Amino acid sequence: MPETLTTLISEELIAERVAELAAEIDRDYADKGELVLIGVLKGSFMFLADLARRLHTPHRVEFISVSSYGDRVSEDPGAVRLILDVRHDIGGRHVLVVEDIVDTGHTLSYLVRLLNARLPASLKTCTLLRKPDRSQVDVAIDYLGFDIPDVWVVGYGLDFAERYRTLPRICALKQAE
Ligand code: IMP
Ligand code: MG
Repeated sequence: MPETLTTLISEELIAERVAELAAEIDRDYADKGELVLIGVLKGSFMFLADLARRLHTPHRVEFISVSSYGDRVSEDPGAVRLILDVRHDIGGRHVLVVEDIVDTGHTLSYLVRLLNARLPASLKTCTLLRKPDRSQVDVAIDYLGFDIPDVWVVGYGLDFAERYRTLPRICALKQAE
């Protein structure tokens, strides 16, 4: 392999933080009834699975998928495109968007605008990771796992060209010179 991986967040540390986030969410939604968790594919699949198993709040699971135009020079670098929508109407429901990582913030900001237009009872955001140094758009994060430095990370759902997604821990990836 031409890349090297360095562990940034261990399996144990992830599990501990996911349990804390679930407890926080349970506290906040205790009197609100059913929650709709919307996982952003593909990166959030592992985080969503672990978080959902820790939640006592009754909930449904939905998925949404977006892609950014970022790699096409002719497009607006922040443009985001909807690839796969949720299956059920979220109007009048309590919604929590579950993301793997907030980098520039364009993706989450797009999703918040898209979903808010459908008039949910409430809409909050949860992301396992955030790179504060890369932020370009202000977007409210209600539940945050970890702030990380500006490095490319893989594992626990996150990929590098579709590889390393199923590593159980989060690693910084360094490409060979
Ligand atoms: P944003 O729109 O710039 O905030 O980018 C968010 C998306 O870019 C995430 O949902 C990820 O899919 C991807 N991404 C950003 N940084 C990383 C990383 O370090 N590793 C893997 N995927 C990343
Ligand atoms: Mg993502």
